[in-house]
Amino acid sequence: MSRYDESQNIKQNTPKHVAIIMDGNGRWAKARGKKRTSGHKAGVERVREVVEAAGELGVSSLTLFAFSSENWSRPQEEVSFLMELFVIALNREVKMLRKNGVRLQFLGDKSRFNPKLQSSINKAEEATADNEHLTLNIAANYGGRWDICNAVNKLLASKPDLERVEESDIEPFLATAGLPALDLMIRTGGETRISNFLIWQAAYAELYFSELLWPDFDADAFKAAVDDYSKRQRRFGKTGEQVVEKMSLNAE
Ligand code: IPE
Ligand code: IPE
Ligand code: MG
Repeated sequence: MSRYDESQNIKQNTPKHVAIIMDGNGRWAKARGKKRTSGHKAGVERVREVVEAAGELGVSSLTLFAFSSENWSRPQEEVSFLMELFVIALNREVKMLRKNGVRLQFLGDKSRFNPKLQSSINKAEEATADNEHLTLNIAANYGGRWDICNAVNKLLASKPDLERVEESDIEPFLATAGLPALDLMIRTGGETRISNFLIWQAAYAELYFSELLWPDFDADAFKAAVDDYSKRQRRFGKTGEQVVEKMSLNAE
């Protein structure tokens, strides 16, 4: 099979759906003798750059972990700063997202956010709803276990007589319903854990860990991660020989 799809000008083994655990803002700031909050501010700049790079590479869905269900337990000052930063960034970036064909979606339980943030989120989602080039999913107040419980609860509400749950029943109710399967999960900041991010969706995703702190993770670093992914052989439980055979059949 050609590695290059001429019609779309996109490499065939480019990941369709990439997720990033953007970690290391606090350490980045500390290393510069600054407050943790300045690391979060610097992190927002990288979001813009990585979104652009994802669009250029032909990734169709990018999911960024901005705030976990567990991050509420951080000092109140840091949590408030982050909420304010989200509002500012959303209001500022929505024009650019519209122009670049980016559809913005939030994954997570929005109900715990203050009304100002909820309103900015709704406005940004509505303003970009018709865009098709790239879907940018911001996971905020998101937790993988929450996602699974929430999906099961929604399923039970829609089918109260259900006696058994199959895997395929759960998928349509997850926060990521309708998005392509997760291909690649990146974590910056040197830790090698998932921290309750897309735990269901990551079952067969390729994992990539970078030592770079998030505010240092630039477009080139993102491209290097995608390039690393494109050289991997995904087997989904099959043998390597079976995968190669299927590829050569597809090429015929
Ligand atoms: C990630 O950076 C951003 C959020 C969790 C909101 P951290 O704030 O976790 O930075 P470190 O890991 O403490 O350096
Ligand atoms: C994961 O980072 C959450 C986000 C990047 C939003 P954390 O910094 O919260 O993860 P732990 O606590 O080190 O596992
Ligand atoms: Mg961290």
